[in-house]
Amino acid sequence: MALVGRFEVKFAFFFLGLALFSCGGQGAIVFDVTKYGAKADGQTECAQAFVQTWIAACKSMGPSHVLIPRGTYMSGEAIFWGPCNHSKPITLEVQGTILANPDTSEYPNSHWLRFENLDGLVLKGGATFKGPPTSSRHFMEFDKVNNSIVQGVNMVSRNGFELQISGSHNLTLQNLHITAPKNSPSTDGIHISKSNLVTISKCTIATGGKKCVYEDEGATHITASTVNCIAPHA
Ligand SMILES: *[C@@H]1O[C@H](CO)[C@@H](O)[C@H](O)[C@H]1NC(C)=O
Ligand SMILES: *[C@@H]1O[C@H](CO)[C@@H](O)[C@H](O)[C@H]1NC(C)=O
Ligand SMILES: *[C@@H]1O[C@H](CO)[C@@H](O)[C@H](O)[C@H]1NC(C)=O
Repeated sequence: MALVGRFEVKFAFFFLGLALFSCGGQGAIVFDVTKYGAKADGQTECAQAFVQTWIAACKSMGPSHVLIPRGTYMSGEAIFWGPCNHSKPITLEVQGTILANPDTSEYPNSHWLRFENLDGLVLKGGATFKGPPTSSRHFMEFDKVNNSIVQGVNMVSRNGFELQISGSHNLTLQNLHITAPKNSPSTDGIHISKSNLVTISKCTIATGGKKCVYEDEGATHITASTVNCIAPHA
């Protein structure tokens, strides 16, 4: 009797676990970075855990949801790449703060956060991203990212700023707050090249560059509305 009882309890927990695991909204499976080794202590390097979580989500069937919960996580270079053939949309919800690793050797390809070859990315969650201490690295890059949305995140540069968009089609940026320190080198906020249909709205960009949204070669159908382009102050 006792054995059967314990078995039933375990079984109940198993189903409870499954139920919690799949509560990501719209039936998406949730992949929590803390289950892949990320630690919200602000000093453990988390890039590898982030990328391992991403790979698991990208390989999964159906919509998937990568979650970076509340807390401060430190990360060097992290590349989130596709294609993710079965998992559209793929949501990256960042509730916490991502702090760039001050160790310059953590940036072997001179990127910080890069999204590549993706269709149906949704980046959201009220996150704050605090960029790398040296200006030689782009803050965040979107390369060949289609039909995607970036919304409601704060980006704080520690030495200039540049959000780079290239080779992409149909990208919406909404409710972004981008700031750089007062004495940082002036840089453009968002740099767009070889991309079509980029819509930017309800954004504050305070990076001190001549242009908050710079349309470079091959940028077509770019709409920037309600972009508040102001002097650096962070
Ligand atoms: C997606 O499909 C391409 C080409 O069919 C394949 O090379 C790639 O490995 C697939 N990616 C995933 C994550 O399944
Ligand atoms: C994104 O769109 C471009 C141009 O339409 C296409 O060549 C590319 O394969 C698409 N990439 C993905 C990951 O869907
Ligand atoms: C652009 O991408 C969004 C989000 O994936 C999608 O809902 C919309 O239909 C796409 N628009 C076009 C013109 O492809």
